[in-house]
Formats: sequence, C-alpha cells, structure tokens
Amino acid sequence: MASRSIFQMKRLVFFSFLILCLIVVVSGKGAIYTPPDVEKVTDQFSRISVNQGFNVLYGGSNIHQTNNGTNADLILDKTSGSGLISTNKYFYGFFNAALKLPAGFTSGVVIAFYMSNQGDFPKNHDEIDMELLGHEKRRDWILQTNLYGNGSTSTGREEKLYLWFDPTQDYHNYSILWNNHHIVYYVDNVPVREVIHNKAIGSAYPSKPMSVYVTIWDGSEWATHGGKYGVNYAYSPFVASLKGIELEGCIVQQKNNGSGITCAKKSSVSSLDPVDGTEFSKLSDLQNTGLDWSRRKHMYYSYCQDTARYKILPPECTSK
Ligand SMILES: *[C@@H]1O[C@H](CO)[C@@H](O)[C@H](O)[C@H]1NC(C)=O
Ligand SMILES: *[C@@H]1O[C@H](CO)[C@@H](O)[C@H](O)[C@H]1NC(C)=O
Ligand SMILES: *[C@@H]1O[C@H](CO)[C@@H](O)[C@H](O)[C@H]1NC(C)=O
Ligand SMILES: *[C@@H]1O[C@H](CO)[C@@H](O)[C@H](O)[C@H]1NC(C)=O
Repeated sequence: MASRSIFQMKRLVFFSFLILCLIVVVSGKGAIYTPPDVEKVTDQFSRISVNQGFNVLYGGSNIHQTNNGTNADLILDKTSGSGLISTNKYFYGFFNAALKLPAGFTSGVVIAFYMSNQGDFPKNHDEIDMELLGHEKRRDWILQTNLYGNGSTSTGREEKLYLWFDPTQDYHNYSILWNNHHIVYYVDNVPVREVIHNKAIGSAYPSKPMSVYVTIWDGSEWATHGGKYGVNYAYSPFVASLKGIELEGCIVQQKNNGSGITCAKKSSVSSLDPVDGTEFSKLSDLQNTGLDWSRRKHMYYSYCQDTARYKILPPECTSK
C-alpha cells in the first residue's frame, strides 16, 4: 500500500513536471515572443538604395557598399567607427532602416538610427533616437529610444527594451514616424513607443527639420551598464549591415532657419500623405495592441518611472 502510493506520487510529480515544462515551452515560444499582428507600415513606402539616400558622414573607409550601393556594411574597428547622413533634410515623415547587427561579444558597441539637427541648431537642436546597445550578458542587444526638442538636453527621455528576436540572425526593420500629431518608434512595424504632441511635452517635442543618420561607434563610456563594460576590440571588426531604406516625408528645400519651411515633395505615394494622413495621425487598434504588448513584455526602463532620477517627473509623464 505504502509503496504503491509513493509510486503514484512519483508519477504525479513526474506528470506535473512534464505539464509545467510544456507550459513554459508553449508560452515562451508563443505568447511571449510572437508579436501581435499589426499593419505593415513599411510596405506602404518605396525602398531606396543606401547610396540614393545617404552620404558618408565619417569613417568612409569603414563603409562598404554592397549590392551596387543598394545596401551597405557599417564597420567599427580599432581605427574608426563609421556613419551616414541623409542627402536631404526632412520636416516630418516616415523613416525606416533594416539592420542586421554584429553577433558575438558586443558590449560598448552602439548602432544608431536617428534624426538630428544639431549642426544647424547647436544651442536648441531636436533629435529622435533609436540606439541599439551591445550587451555583455547573453550576447544580447538592447533598444534605447530617446528624443530632444529645442535643446531639451537636460531632460533625458530614455526608454529601454529587449528585442523579442535575435537581431544578429537577420535584418529587422527599425522605423520612426514623426508628424505634428505624434512620434512613433516601431520595430518590425510593432509600435514600441508613442510620444504624443501635446501641451505637456511642449517645446521638448522635435519641431524643426532634421537629417537622418545611421552610425556605428564606440560607446564604451555609457552604452553597457553605464560604461561598466567597454568595447573589446579583440572581437572586432563589428559589422552592421544596412538595407531597406525608406525616407518618406517633406524634403526641406533649402538650408533653413526654422521659419518659412517649404517641401520639395510630400510623398511619392499619391493617395497617401505620410506626413499628416489620418492613418498616421493616430495608432489603429491593432497598433495599440502591439504597443501594449511590446511595452508590457519587453520594456524594462522608462524615464517616466525613474523617480530616483527625476524627483519631479517630466510633465508628459503625469498628464493624461
Ligand atoms: C521589413 O520591411 C519590409 C518592407 O515592408 C518587409 O518586406 C520585411 O519583411 C520586413 N522585415 C521584417 C523582419 O519584418
Ligand atoms: C549600379 O549602380 C549604378 C549607379 O547607381 C548604375 O548606373 C548601374 O547600372 C548599376 N549596376 C547594376 C549592375 O545594377
Ligand atoms: C527654442 O529655443 C530658442 C533658443 O533657446 C528660444 O528662443 C525659443 O523661444 C524656443 N522655442 C520654443 C518653442 O520654446
Ligand atoms: C529665415 O529664413 C527665411 C526664409 O529664407 C527668411 O525670410 C527669414 O528672414 C530668416 N529669419 C532669420 C531670423 O534669419
């Protein structure tokens, strides 16, 4: 009798364990890591080659064009990082880069897809950032988003999240929508952050024409655990592969001073205005579901929750 119940107990424990394993496997693969379906915003715009959209910003010898200039490899090694700057400046639009990141040990390495007008407005510049930060643990990558408006550099508005895929295995889309209504950061078309243009954020909302940049550089001083793990060049060269460029928006005609902006062209898609159309003025229900999912499951830092850093949180964090 006693031995039989022990046997049954063991069986029960064994099957419970099996079921637990199944739950972990199923939720790990399905519920947690597969994003909800969202509209494919990146399908709506034409893709241009890297050499059509960009010029060399620095480290030209570390930029290798591939596929006749359609794509490019951006390299960081002991001698230099490298960077591209868009030929045009844009006032609002939709911007995409498909990136495949370096595998292996990448702490301290930063790959940035961002917009800025620091050159034109050194004292009161605007910026919208998507920065991929190499990591020491699990050879992971982290996405940090941020923005500045009219020189609001004393207030960092960073958010950080883990990606739900391995960004070193294949190309993934990183995109920025920027218009008068909101800024949306997307990863593979899933919104990961929305910044609404309202009174609370005020002049910290980017509101002047900007160039688009893709860069790879040494962020040893801050990128991984606040600089605890720097770049280890024994693992270099670090190569970021770039393709799938979409730069769709109001191309600013001349170097301007923020007033009297005129657009050379609004969009190459005739029936669709990427700058201000209804489908770009607010997120759809699907996109809101995607936004909730990515933030609930993958975001691990938001400046709006960092009360140690901000005794008084920036106004947009508490306004509704
Ligand atoms: C990136 O966007 C392009 C264009 O919409 C699409 O064909 C491709 O499948 C996307 N890649 C991923 C990983 O979602
Ligand atoms: C390569 O690009 C150049 C200029 O962009 C173009 O003139 C040429 O036809 C392209 N060659 C091929 C094989 O696509
Ligand atoms: C932006 O900054 C400039 C220079 O500091 C200032 O003169 C201007 O009033 C600011 N604009 C807004 C909208 O706050
Ligand atoms: C800015 O540029 C516009 C158009 O080129 C010009 O009319 C205006 O005077 C300029 N303003 C300043 C402050 O330079």
